[in-house]
Amino acid sequence: MHILVTGGMGFIGSNFIRYHLKHYPQDEVINLDLLSYAANQLSLADITQLNYHFYQGSINDLTLVQEIVQQHQISLIINFAGESDVDRSLTKSDVFVQTNVAGVNNLINVALKENIPRFIQISTDEVYGSLPALEFAAEDAPLNPSSPYSATKASAELLLLAAKKSYQLGINIIRSANNYGPRQYQEKLIPKAIIAFLKGNEIPLFGKGLETRDWLYVNDNIRAIETVIHSGKIGEIYNVGTQKELSNFAVLQAIAKNLSGDSSLIRFTRQRPGHDQRYGVQTAKIKELGWQPEVDFGLGIKKTVTWYQTNRSWWDDKNYR
Ligand code: TYD
Repeated sequence: MHILVTGGMGFIGSNFIRYHLKHYPQDEVINLDLLSYAANQLSLADITQLNYHFYQGSINDLTLVQEIVQQHQISLIINFAGESDVDRSLTKSDVFVQTNVAGVNNLINVALKENIPRFIQISTDEVYGSLPALEFAAEDAPLNPSSPYSATKASAELLLLAAKKSYQLGINIIRSANNYGPRQYQEKLIPKAIIAFLKGNEIPLFGKGLETRDWLYVNDNIRAIETVIHSGKIGEIYNVGTQKELSNFAVLQAIAKNLSGDSSLIRFTRQRPGHDQRYGVQTAKIKELGWQPEVDFGLGIKKTVTWYQTNRSWWDDKNYR
């Protein structure tokens, strides 16, 4: 297989590439990444396999994407590229529309023009919006995004569904819960808190810290993507999550405990505008394909904390990238 991975220097994309090259060394993996602020080339610096190639560029660059697809006879696009920070989206929605919507539209156009049989879009459980306690959205639940981030992810999904209907593009959409684990950029809650505890800095916790998230260890998400590649039904949407949840305050306490960190560094701050109380996804559909999560939060957070402790050079670099 010849796979174009977009956004492969980001958190989930780089973890996917590491896993895929290890388990499928016969595949060719092409990584197209813009190297914007949240990308980190150190994530794949040790990958020297000849079946791995990196191109710096944008998913909005039609000529470049088309050249790559032709040169490498791409048969599968997996789109990890995207702006993903909710707080940034609240003040910089333009760049979210440009990357998450126009960028995906561009990839769709290339896929159709070049007859690429499969396109897997990495989306988010946030497209369902905030859900009441104990409610879990199935894949056919309505889209009800709250932030510019989730609105652009939902828009990209609609473009893909339209390409499926109009041109039979072989799509899958994966709606994952909040990922955490090694190599996540420090704007997100978990790496931000680990790094702040390690440096002795304050950690801002929005509101009362009572919002909850379903925390999915990144490797479990990668295994779900692997499952969809091999066993997913073309055209289908798959939720991926643990169906367990933790409040933000409980997450910070767990990190503090693992680091013998000082909980007094937690600062309750202003509430995030439009802050979603809770996400929840039903995962029966992906489980029917044989997938289930393997790493519970206690183990996953321990592994994550240890990774940030032992890979300081990855995050303590002013010139990130
Ligand atoms: P985040 O990691 O930004 O993911 P998302 O907003 O996509 O779920 O945030 C996770 C939760 O943590 C969310 O409820 C917002 C909260 N949060 C804080 O309280 N303080 C922070 O500094 C950050 C980054 C997030």
